[in-house]
Amino acid sequence: MRSYASFKGHPIHPALIPFPFAFLLGALLFDLLGLASDRRGLMLTGRHLSELGLLAGMVTAIPGVLDYLKTVPPASSGRARALRHGTANATALFLFAVGWLFRDATSPSALTIISELLGGAILVYGGWLGGTLVTRNLISVDHRYARAGKWQEVTLSGTAGASVVAARTEDLNEDQMKLLHIDGRRIVLARTKQGFAAFDDGCTHRGGSLAGGVCVGGVVQCLWHGSQFDTATGEVRCGPAKRNIHVYEVREQNGQVLVTLPRDG
Ligand code: FES
Repeated sequence: MRSYASFKGHPIHPALIPFPFAFLLGALLFDLLGLASDRRGLMLTGRHLSELGLLAGMVTAIPGVLDYLKTVPPASSGRARALRHGTANATALFLFAVGWLFRDATSPSALTIISELLGGAILVYGGWLGGTLVTRNLISVDHRYARAGKWQEVTLSGTAGASVVAARTEDLNEDQMKLLHIDGRRIVLARTKQGFAAFDDGCTHRGGSLAGGVCVGGVVQCLWHGSQFDTATGEVRCGPAKRNIHVYEVREQNGQVLVTLPRDG
């Protein structure tokens, strides 16, 4: 699904990742080469690369945290993976910072090399998790399908048992969806041939975002493992999901689409 921290539709976090990756692993490489050849210039380069890598890592973390909070579906396997990804990268940055702090005046200390080796290994693990978040969980992938239209997302507030104006009728064409954030709930408003439908955004298999899926012919498909649900009834049309999704009452009134929230809040 589309990244929250993006510029003109392009996700920022994946675009920045190569910088800390290259600088920090480069610091390790130059430190090892410098020690092996006893060349101070290489070790000095390692020091500067370490400083650049730490700075780039902290800058890169900002859009990453925003995507974690705003884009990755809550209560999903992707959320757990994103937490491991962030923890691994924060640990790697910490280890490189320790290595930088304990450098000798002109060369890396033994503790520096150990910290950088450990940090480098953890950084690679964190990067592997990040790659999985993109390629399998489709975080920051703004995919398209026939008639999908542009990504639509809005934050609203509502009262339990009351109706919320979720959209104007003309906001959505057939087979298009809009993600609604209503007081902590993530609800998808979809327009099908039969009319409007609203359902929970979380796939009942492992929590994939249905707003980030595909809606065609009154069926919404989760792209994580392919589960399909009837948009009107919430019934599972195709697994691996076994439980139906929750659906909401929707009605059109004076050109507006209203979604009724359940009484339990
Ligand atoms: S999370 Fe597995 S099919 Fe949706």
